[in-house]
Amino acid sequence: MSLTQTAIDTLARNDRGGFTIPTAGLYPYQWNWDSAFIALGIATYDMDRAWTEIMSLLEGQWPDGMIPSIIFRSDDPSYFPGPSRWGKTLGPIPSTGVSQPPVLTTVVRQLTDAGGTRNAARRHEVFDRLFAFHKWFHDARTSNGIVATVHPWETGRDNCPDWNIGLDLMDVAADLAPYTRMDNKHVNPQYRPSQEQYDKYLTIVQFGDSVGWDQRRLTDEGPFLMADPNIHFILLRADKDLLAIARDLGKPVETLTQIEAWIAKGEAATDYLWSEALGAFTAREIRTGAFSTGFTNCSALCFYADSGTAEQRARVLDNLNRIAAKVDFMLPSWDPDAEGFEAQRYWCGPVWPQMNYMTSLGLAEQGHDALAMKIRDDLCRAIERSGFWECFNPLTGEGCVGSNFSWTAAVWLSWQHETKLEGVA
Ligand code: GLC
Repeated sequence: MSLTQTAIDTLARNDRGGFTIPTAGLYPYQWNWDSAFIALGIATYDMDRAWTEIMSLLEGQWPDGMIPSIIFRSDDPSYFPGPSRWGKTLGPIPSTGVSQPPVLTTVVRQLTDAGGTRNAARRHEVFDRLFAFHKWFHDARTSNGIVATVHPWETGRDNCPDWNIGLDLMDVAADLAPYTRMDNKHVNPQYRPSQEQYDKYLTIVQFGDSVGWDQRRLTDEGPFLMADPNIHFILLRADKDLLAIARDLGKPVETLTQIEAWIAKGEAATDYLWSEALGAFTAREIRTGAFSTGFTNCSALCFYADSGTAEQRARVLDNLNRIAAKVDFMLPSWDPDAEGFEAQRYWCGPVWPQMNYMTSLGLAEQGHDALAMKIRDDLCRAIERSGFWECFNPLTGEGCVGSNFSWTAAVWLSWQHETKLEGVA
C-alpha cells in the first residue's frame, strides 16, 4: 500500500466522529494545534470533513476566547491528567485550562484561500471566534510587551530544555495532590519527561484551578512565566492571516485597526527573543530576563512569521547550517551542541513533523529554497524509513513515542497534494 493511502487510513482510524485524536492510547482526546494540522491533511481529500475538524475544535472555546489545549469529551482512565485533575474549567466542554500555539487561523486561511461563496461563508462562520481567540492571547497572556506562556504544555513543546530556566525558579507545591502518571505506561519512560518536571507541570495546574482559571491571574501570579518563540511567531503569522481574512470579509475599520495593532506589537516583541550570544531567537524567562541556551526547532520560525531583521535572519540561517552538519535528519527540537540534547527524548532532540512543516514553509516563502527542501525531504525520508510516528530520532530517522500519528500523516498528505489543495471544493 502507498504511504499516502496509509496516511489517509491513519487519519480515518483516529477519527472519533467529527474530531480526530492524535493517536489511540497515548492521546485519546482532541488536541488544539493537532486538529489544525489534521484539517490541513484531511482537506487534501475531503474538505467537508476537514472543516468539521475545525468546527469541532471551536466547540471547546471558552467564553473568554481561549481555545484549550485538550477538549475532554469523555473521561478516559488511560489518560492523565484528565478532566477531574484540571478542576472546574470554564468552557462549554470539560478541558484543560491552558491553550496551545494558535496555528488555527493560518490553516483556515489556507483552506479557504481559493475564494468562492462557499469559502467566503466558511470564513464568515469562524471569523468572530478566531478574533476572540487572538484577543484572548493578547489580553490574557501579555507580559512585558510580549505574549507569554504560563505552562510548558501551552507551548506544545512540553519538555524542551528551554523551560528549565522557568521550572528551576519554581517549587513543587507542598500540597500537590498525589497522582499516577499514565504517559509512561504507553511508551518507554526514557522518551518522556522526568518525574520532577511532571510534578512542576501539575503544580501549575493546581495553581490555575486555585484561582478559578482566571487567566489574567494565572499570567500575573502563576509559578511559571516565559516567552516562547513558538507561540510568538505562530501568533504573529496568524495575526497577519487574520488581517487578510478580515479585509477579505470587509470587516469594519475598528476590527482592522485592532488586528494591525496586534501585529505591530508582535513585530516589536520579536527583538525581545533575540539572543545575541546564540545568534538566534530563543525562549526567555520573563521575571529574570534570562535567555535559553539552545537553538530549537522553533528558532527559525522568524521566516514563517516574516519577522526579524536581515542580519538576524542571516545568523539564524548560519545556525541551521551548523545543525544540518551534525544530524542526518533536520530539524532537531533541541540543539545538538547544547547541554541536554537527547536524540530520543521527546522535545530534547527528536524531529517533529509539524515543526518541519512550518519551518520549511517559512523558508520557502522567504526564498531559501534549498534549506526549505532539505527540511521537508529529511522528514519525508524519516517517514519512508519508519512510518507515521509522533517524532523521529534526528541521528537515525527511527520513530519515537507514539505511532500511527495523525499530524505526521497530515503533514505528509499536505506535502504530497500541495498543488491539489487550491482546487478542493
Ligand atoms: C504532546 C506534544 C504536543 C501535542 C500532543 C498531542 O503533548 O508535546 O505538542 O499537541 O502531544 O499530539
